[in-house]
Amino acid sequence: MPFPSERPRRLRTSAAMRAMVTETRLHPAELVLPMFVKEGLTEPRAVASLPGVVQHSRESLRKAAAEAVQVGVGGIMLFGVPTKKDPNGSGGTDPGGILNVAIRDVISEVGSDMLVMSDLCLDEFTSHGHCGVLAADGTVDNDATLEAYGHMAVAQAAAGVHIVGPSGMMDGQVGHVRSTLDKAGHTDVTILAYAVKYASAFFGPFREAVESTLEGDRRTYQQDPANLRESLREVRLDVAEGADIVMVKPALPYLDVISAVRDAVDVPVAAYQVSGEYAMVEAAAANGWLDRDRVMLETLHSIKRAGAQVILTYWAVDAARALRSL
Ligand code: PBG
Repeated sequence: MPFPSERPRRLRTSAAMRAMVTETRLHPAELVLPMFVKEGLTEPRAVASLPGVVQHSRESLRKAAAEAVQVGVGGIMLFGVPTKKDPNGSGGTDPGGILNVAIRDVISEVGSDMLVMSDLCLDEFTSHGHCGVLAADGTVDNDATLEAYGHMAVAQAAAGVHIVGPSGMMDGQVGHVRSTLDKAGHTDVTILAYAVKYASAFFGPFREAVESTLEGDRRTYQQDPANLRESLREVRLDVAEGADIVMVKPALPYLDVISAVRDAVDVPVAAYQVSGEYAMVEAAAANGWLDRDRVMLETLHSIKRAGAQVILTYWAVDAARALRSL
């Protein structure tokens, strides 16, 4: 027999062949678009470090959500930026706070044509920028923060949100949110738990988008990027506390974590391709150093291949369009 007898290249000979044997196929329904809405804006405002991403006005948010539905994006994740921040982040629990108002706006626009999700965390609302309320000594008070998350969850559920995303990395947050929602009669509101969230420098541009005032870092509650076993423990705890979906964040530098989480539990696994991951590629593409659309799809395929079946990405609409034209 002539050498080589095995010729894997046969399966790559044409676009039709490659399409038939591909192991990972992305679909717009599994993409979620993170969106920012700022109180008091009348026009959307660009976020310099996230080219193509804006802080929305209430009106532009509704329109952009409807456009995302048009291209088949599966959901949106809402972040609110209040005009006034205070130490307890009261804008997050206030039913008239920007995030809760925006949930109502978007639900009235898209109904159940897509999943409306909301960030369940205080950092956008606190004057000190931490994800929780502070104790007298300046540290983040875990259990007092849980109380606030419970109120916030009920306010978001009352506004009609389909999925809440507790992202503050407080111990017991999933269990507390679940039981508070259940007691208030919101048993159908789904929990997408930020189960694995690293103290990552890749969140940099996001902090501009939400006008974060944080000084210092979040290392007493977010995880050490060097750890994996700790992540699996966080995931097991969140599933035991009632998480419906668990998320790993950031995504691309943590594909091994996504894969391990996928093997460890049987709930759906999500991954958040965060602001810094997006900004790196956009910056390189703006310089002509990378082919933006190809890199976009390559990163999304990689994240899915690693085991994420839901992907939060600032490229959701562009990726959905690109997938439709493939
Ligand atoms: C916390 C939250 C953050 C992000 C999502 N939810 C910021 C943080 O934890 O510091 C970051 C998302 C991104 O970088 O795109 N509410």
